[in-house]
Amino acid sequence: MKRFLRSLALALFFVSYLTAQQHQTTAVLDATKIKYKINKNIYGQFSEDLGHCIYGGIWVGENSPVPNIDGMRKDVVDALKEIRVPVLRWPGGCFADGYHWKDGIGPRALRPKTTNTSWGNVTDDNGFGTHEFLEFCKLIGAEPYFTGNVGSGTVQEFSEWVEYVNSDNESPMTELREKNGRDSSWGVKYWGLGNESWGCGGNMTPEYYADQVRRYSTFLKNYGKNKIFKIAVGAGGGDYHWTEVLMKNARKSFDGLSLHYYTFENSKPAADFDEKDWFATMKGTLKMDELIEKNEVIMDTYDPGKRVALVVDEWGTWYAVEPGTNPAFLYQQNTMRDAITAACNLNIFNNHCDRVRMANIAQMVNVLQAMILTDSSEIILTPTYYVFDLFKVHQNARLIPMKVNSASYVFDKDTLPAVNASASIDKDGKVHIALCNIDPRSSETVAVQFERFTGKKISGKILTANKMNDENTFDHPNQVIPKIFSDYKLASNSLTVNMPPMSVVMLDLNGTVEAPPPLVLKNPMQGLEYKYYEGTWEELPNFDLLTPVKGGTIENIVIPKESSDENFGVQYSGYINIPNNGSYTFYLNSDDGSSLYLDRDLVVSNDGQHAPEERSGEAFLRAGYHEIKVTFFQAAGGMVLDASIEGPGIQKRKIPDGMLFREGK
Ligand code: AHR
Repeated sequence: MKRFLRSLALALFFVSYLTAQQHQTTAVLDATKIKYKINKNIYGQFSEDLGHCIYGGIWVGENSPVPNIDGMRKDVVDALKEIRVPVLRWPGGCFADGYHWKDGIGPRALRPKTTNTSWGNVTDDNGFGTHEFLEFCKLIGAEPYFTGNVGSGTVQEFSEWVEYVNSDNESPMTELREKNGRDSSWGVKYWGLGNESWGCGGNMTPEYYADQVRRYSTFLKNYGKNKIFKIAVGAGGGDYHWTEVLMKNARKSFDGLSLHYYTFENSKPAADFDEKDWFATMKGTLKMDELIEKNEVIMDTYDPGKRVALVVDEWGTWYAVEPGTNPAFLYQQNTMRDAITAACNLNIFNNHCDRVRMANIAQMVNVLQAMILTDSSEIILTPTYYVFDLFKVHQNARLIPMKVNSASYVFDKDTLPAVNASASIDKDGKVHIALCNIDPRSSETVAVQFERFTGKKISGKILTANKMNDENTFDHPNQVIPKIFSDYKLASNSLTVNMPPMSVVMLDLNGTVEAPPPLVLKNPMQGLEYKYYEGTWEELPNFDLLTPVKGGTIENIVIPKESSDENFGVQYSGYINIPNNGSYTFYLNSDDGSSLYLDRDLVVSNDGQHAPEERSGEAFLRAGYHEIKVTFFQAAGGMVLDASIEGPGIQKRKIPDGMLFREGK
C-alpha cells in the first residue's frame, strides 16, 4: 500500500511538473483587419563611426588582405545582402553632432585626421566618408539615412551636405562633388536633424530644439524630384514631454520623429548572466511596447492622420563590453537572449506599423547588439542576425492583427507574457506568423484561431538553443542557427504550435483570406457625389461636422471646376467597383492634404499643408462595390489632387471614371 501511495505521489508530481513546464497560449489571427503595411524600413540598421563598426567591420580599405570590394569587406557585404537591409543610418549616434562631412570627401590621402571625441578619442583618418557610405549602401541594397550635425555644426554646413548629395544644379557644391568623381546626385531621401539633442547632441531643451528643427528644416532643400524625409530627434526612453513639445511646436517641419530606447543590463558582459538577468532583460525589452503606445497617443493628438512616422532609430541590448576590449568601443557578444529580445522588438514594431515606419537596430557590426562580429579576416553571424533573416518575410507585407492571450512566464514572483507574436500577408498572399517564447524553462503550446482565413499548407523554421547564453563564436560559429521546424498541427481554421523554451518560430502558410463581402447597389450610376466647403485649415477637418457651400456629382476625384484658388475643401463619396479579388494599392497625390477611406477604413493618409506629394495605402478587397470617401483641402499656393490604383491585372493608373459610382434613386 505504502509503495502504491509513493508511486501515486510520484506520478502526480510528474504530471504537475509536466503541466508546469508546458504552458498554453491562445491567439486569434484576424484577417478581417488587414490594413497597414509593415514598412520594410522597420528592419533598418544603424552604423556609427564607433569602435570597429565602420573601421575593421565594414571598411578595411582597398589594400587590405581581407577580401574587399573597393575597400568594403566582401564577407560583410554578402551576409548583409542575405537579410535584405532596407535602410542604413550613419555616421551616428553621438558621433554625428561632432562630424563635419567635408572632412570625409576628396582624395583619401588628403583627408584630415580628426579625433573621435565621442568614442575613445581615437584618431579617425576619415577614409570612410560620404562617397564610401553611399557606395556601401548600394552594395548591400540599403537606402542611406544620414544624420546631420545640429549640435556643433551650422545650418549652412548641413544644407550644403544635402546640396552636395542631392543637387544636379550648377553650384560650388555640385562642382566639388564632380571634382571628387561623382557627376550625378544620389538623391538621398532620409536625413536626421541631429541625434539625441537632449543629451550628447547638445543638451538642449525641447523648446530650444524645436526651434532649431524649424530653422534647419527651412534650409534643407529638395532638389529635382527627390523629396527629402526629415527625421527630428525624439524622446530618449519615456521622456513624453519631449515628444509633446516637438509635436506641438515643430511637427510641420519634419516627417519622422525618432525614439531611442535600449535594454540596459550593463553590469555584466553579454554572455555572463543567470535567469534573474534574463528576466530583467526581457522585462526591459517588452517596455518598448508601452513607450511606443504612449508616444502614439501624443502623436495622434497632433497628427491624427499619422503623417509623421515614429522612427525607432536606436534600439537594442546594451551590456558591459567584452573583457579586455576598449570600453569606449561597446563591443559585446550576442546570445540566445539577444535573439529573443530582437524578436520581441520586431514583433512590437510590426504590431505598431501604422505609426512605426522605420527602426534601426544599434548597431550593424561589432557594436552593441550586432548582426556581425569580425576578427581580422573572420566573421561570425550572431543569433540576432538570424532573427533578422527569419523576419525578413514581413518586410512590406501587410499586418494581420493577432490578439495573443499568453500564458505567464513567472520568475521570482514577477510575471511577463511568455509569448508574443506578429503576423502578415505578403503580396503573393502568403501568411507569415512570427512567434516568440521568452520563457527559458517552459515550452509553450500556442493555439491560433483563424478569422476569415483558411490555412492550407505550412512550413516553419525555428531559432533556439540548449542554454540561455549559447552564442556563436569564432571557434563554434554555428551554435545558434535556424533549423527546420515542424512541431505544429494545421487545420483549416486553426493552428497549434508547440514551442520549445526560449524559441523564435517563423511559420509560412499558404491559404485564403476571405475579405469582407462587397456591397450590393440597387441602382449604380457613374460618378461620385461631392461637397465643397470654405475655410482655412492646416490639416483636414472633419467635413461631416461642417456645412458645405455647394455640391453635386463629379466624374472623378478631381478638383471641381470653379473652385477658388485657396482656402477650400472637398469631400467625395460613392462607391468603387473592384474588378477582381485581391490586394490593391491606392495612391493620393495632393497639394495640400488629402485622405482616402474604403469601407470606412482610412487607407491613404496624405494630410497636412504641403507641396505635391504622393502617398499610398493598401487594401485587400473582394470583387464588387466598396464604399469610397476622399477628403481634400487647399490652403494657398499650388493645388493638386489625383487618385491612382494598382492591383490584380491593373498597372498603376489614375482611377478610371468607369470604376466610380454613386447610388441612384
Ligand atoms: O549607439 C551608441 C550610442 O547610444 C549612440 O551614439 C547614441 O545616440 C546613443 O546614446
